[in-house]
Amino acid sequence: MALSLPGLGVPNPALSLLADSDSRTPARLRRPARILVVDDEAPVRSMIGITLERQGYDVQLAASGREAMEILEQNVFDLVLTDIVMQDGNGITLLERMHGQQPQLPVVMVTAIHDIGVAIDSMRRGAYDYLLKPFEREHLLGTVQRALDHRQAMQESQSYQQSLEQVVRARTEMLRQAMEDLEHSYDITLEALGDALDLKDSETEGHSKRVTAYTIALARAMSVSPEQIKVIARGAFLHDIGKMAIPDDILRKPGKLSPEEQEVMREHCARGYNMLRKIPFLSESAEIVYTHQEHHDGSGYPNGLRGSEIPIGARIFAVADTLDAITSDRPYRKARSFDVARQEILRCSGTQFDPGVVEVFLKIPNELWNELRSEITGQNKRYSTFDLAHVPPPPLP
Ligand SMILES: [Fe+2]
Repeated sequence: MALSLPGLGVPNPALSLLADSDSRTPARLRRPARILVVDDEAPVRSMIGITLERQGYDVQLAASGREAMEILEQNVFDLVLTDIVMQDGNGITLLERMHGQQPQLPVVMVTAIHDIGVAIDSMRRGAYDYLLKPFEREHLLGTVQRALDHRQAMQESQSYQQSLEQVVRARTEMLRQAMEDLEHSYDITLEALGDALDLKDSETEGHSKRVTAYTIALARAMSVSPEQIKVIARGAFLHDIGKMAIPDDILRKPGKLSPEEQEVMREHCARGYNMLRKIPFLSESAEIVYTHQEHHDGSGYPNGLRGSEIPIGARIFAVADTLDAITSDRPYRKARSFDVARQEILRCSGTQFDPGVVEVFLKIPNELWNELRSEITGQNKRYSTFDLAHVPPPPLP
């Protein structure tokens, strides 16, 4: 049917927002609301159609439920008015089929007075309202306007919810990025702290970085989660941070330490732990600093923990630490080979080291340790201590 819009500039209740009701859209278009009228009685159908058209609505008519479904497949409507009792099936079936395809489409049921029970039932099944025949023009227009207002409110709320979800997604991504940047800044700060320790304790130069890389490689081979590896890596890197508090004459003493000096030296675990445990993102790593000198058989310090009482990160670290100690120069001896280190670690499996960690360690070829060592010793400026991707997962048999 043709449109018969009233004079331009006059507010028209039949005008509806397009489905895109985003008020930020610059070319916010308006069009007359589209209404489908379904009734198998031609006089009723055209009477409703004419009344609505005169009000400025864009109306289409259907003489049966089947025709209505065909029209709905090709066109978008803002409202459907349907008779309940029709020759080719009732309006309730049509209502359910329409809602199966377009759950948001408001439907007003039109019915004779003796069908009121059915009309009420149709509302339970999702109809927006019903009209009892015969009805007044004002009653028809009032019901139609309410249904259209309802649809518009639903669309606006849906669009608001969608834009809210978009905002939440964008903010979450910004937050994630900020957290990542922050974490990266933390790690750079940690590296500076490690460098400071290396300056104080020149004997271990590069030790922190190597032992961290070895620990990461071993933890990956043991299928530790990436999140947990980050915690372990920071603990490995800072394991000797407590040595900052040890007097230089003990820390740098060339000969053997006296029992009293050894006592002072052993305090470095607790001192490091106390330095780090109050820093939220290092509190878990602090546990590894505290327990890094414990032995599997309980002969370590400071608490003589045994087996699984020792955090897994500290058990992994212990192997990595010995690996680096044996293969690095010391003032009193030259560095020994990775094969020697393997023998020594195997010899101490079950006493100093967790046998489960040693078993995985022995499966990793020397090439990986050599590669990591030369990369760090080669002063590769781009080497990032905490970058997990940097340490390749070891090729296991
Ligand atoms: Fe230590």
